[in-house]
This record gives sequence, C-alpha cells and structure tokens, in this order.
Amino acid sequence: MEFIDLKSQYAALKAAIDGRIQCVLDHGQFIMGPEVRELEERLESYTGARHCITVSSGTEALLISLMALGVKAGDEVITSPFTFVATAEVIALLGATPVFVDVEPDTCNIDPSRIEAAITSRTRAIMPVSLYGQPADMDEINAIAARYGNLPVIEDAAQSFGASYKGRKSCNLSTVGCTSFFPSKPLGCYGDGGAIFTSDDALARAMREIRVHGQERRYYHTRVGVGGRMDTLQCAVVLAKLDRFDWEVERRATLGLRYGELLGGRVATTALRSDRTSVFAQYTVLVDERDEVQKRLAAAGVPTAVHYPVPLHKQPAFVDRCRIQGGLANADVLAQRVMSLPMSADLDETQQVAIVEALIAAVGNRSR
Ligand SMILES: Cc1ncc(COP(=O)(O)O)c(C=O)c1O
Repeated sequence: MEFIDLKSQYAALKAAIDGRIQCVLDHGQFIMGPEVRELEERLESYTGARHCITVSSGTEALLISLMALGVKAGDEVITSPFTFVATAEVIALLGATPVFVDVEPDTCNIDPSRIEAAITSRTRAIMPVSLYGQPADMDEINAIAARYGNLPVIEDAAQSFGASYKGRKSCNLSTVGCTSFFPSKPLGCYGDGGAIFTSDDALARAMREIRVHGQERRYYHTRVGVGGRMDTLQCAVVLAKLDRFDWEVERRATLGLRYGELLGGRVATTALRSDRTSVFAQYTVLVDERDEVQKRLAAAGVPTAVHYPVPLHKQPAFVDRCRIQGGLANADVLAQRVMSLPMSADLDETQQVAIVEALIAAVGNRSR
C-alpha cells in the first residue's frame, strides 16, 4: 500500500499525459510555451479568479505574492504556526516577521477570533493556510482585514486546490490565493510547480513581471524579481490531469467522509465545517503515543505521515525571527498528536477498511 498512489493515477491517465508531453517535445517551446497560458486560462475559469499566474512552486507563489504586495524588512505578516515551513519562510526571506496566531483545535486552521489582537501598525498582510485541504474561515478573516484598512489576505491554498468555501473555490476567496502542484498535492505535476490567483489587475501585472526577473518586456527590468516560471512540460502534465480532476475531488471527499464513518468516533479525527468541502490533501487523525501507533501501523503494512511534528515557533530557524501572539497551545498539542492516513483518489474501499481496522487495533493495543 502506498501513502499516496501516484502510479495508479498515471496508469489511468497515461494516454492523455503521454500525449501532452509528446506535444511539448514536438513543438519545443519548453519555457513559456502555449500550454502555460492554456493552463492559466483553464484554472481561471475553474476558480473564477480573473488572473492565474503559474509559477515554479508553491513556495515561489507565496514569495512572489508578498513581493508584489510590497512586503519588506520590518513589516509583519500574520500567519499560522501549524503549517509547512514555506508559509513563514517566505515572510522571513523578505526580512519581515511572521506573527504566529494559534489554530483551531479541530480544523487545525488559524483561529480568526485571535487575529485582531495580533494586528499592529507594522502588519502588512494576513496569510491563512487551508490545511489538509479544507479552506480556513476566509470570510471571517477578510472581514477583519477590511476593518484594518483593507489589509491584503493571502490564502496559502497549497493543499486545498479544488476545495470550496460557501460555494466559492479555494484560491479565489481573498486578495490572493497560492497553490502548489508538488506531485503529492491534490492537483500535482511531475516536478515542482505552483500558481497564484487574484482578481486585482495591478497585482497580477506585478506578479507576472516579478515571475520573470521583474521585466516589463524582454531585458527591461522595472523591479527586482525572480526566475519563477513554471516549465511548459509541467503545465502540460497538469492539463492532462485536469481530465479527471472533478472525479478525483469527488472521490477524495467520499473517501474522507467514509474514513470518518468507518472510524465511528473510536479515534479522534480533524473536523470538517459544514459550510466548506475538503480535498483531503491529508486525512488526519489525532492519536496519543503517536510513535508507537505509527510503528504498529507500519508493521501492519499501513504507511502514515506526520504533518507537522514541530510547530514553526519551535523550529530553530524561526525562534528568534518570529513574534508569538497569545499562546500557541493548540498548535503545540496538535504537533504531538496529528497523524495522516493513506489518501488518494485511487485508494479502494477494501484498502480503506484494512487501514481503519489496523488503526483501531494499533490505538487499542497502544498501552500493552
Ligand atoms: C501549506 C503549504 N504551503 C506551501 C507549500 C510549498 O509548496 P511547494 O512545495 O510547491 O513549494 C506547501 C507544500 O508542501 C504546503 O503544504
């Protein structure tokens, strides 16, 4: 059993993926070839955002967004301490300070009720993360941002592309949305890739320039930028994967709900709010004595993973480079207890039952 089954997905989409890749090999426009804009247009209509700018990774998407918003040394950006490191890393790279606010204990997403207390005259943006595939409470966060001079809100939607919130698509829920096409993500390519979404024309123009070394036209540089383009070949892979993406999103939702039903309250799970859907980038449960439970599951042939074992305020790279607002007790406890189970659209029901049985046995046997 695989933690994420990319081989079955490739087998199902082989003709489309091979065909798309061959097409790029034939036309030879490996950088900014026609598939780049084709993918951006497809994703604009999928999300409803006016602009999609593909970039070389989810990390680069976040970095370019902050650069376009003018975030600089001395500024503060409010975010979650319970996320992949890239979220805070890009803030620190620009010389700004990540300000960590605690998360909700059940969804693991930033707790909007704690954000307001973190806002200072140095706050330049709020960066919620839609963790494990479920959007953060974006309307609440947007409302707070609006009250403080329309602070920009960047959704780190690296794990939630395809999910929705109150009927709207993740990535199109705030000023900017950023996603990742890392291979294991719900919509992944075969290397690194990512995308930025916004309906703000001026920001989109700045982001397109920053993506290519800040150039307005070839060799005319109006600002400092990065080399952040997404390869044509990777865009071609994502285009092919869009052929069954709607089915995959449905299937992931079904598997996620089914995990909950099969577990039947015998193991604590993370919560799904009724006004949103999740693409279950991870299906995450909460267990005590996690190392032991993971060992027992591995022995039963069930791979698991921990996202994330150390919250960012406790990472050596950030201890002296962050500001902590209030306590971060929920993030601390979650980091000790979270454990993700195998999840991919090609997981079958028999495997799922076997995973759940092994988990219940592992948790039950824990103290023996
Ligand atoms: C929440 C979050 N933010 C940012 C990223 C960075 O994306 P990438 O790996 O494409 O740079 C990831 C990827 O793991 C992520 O999960």
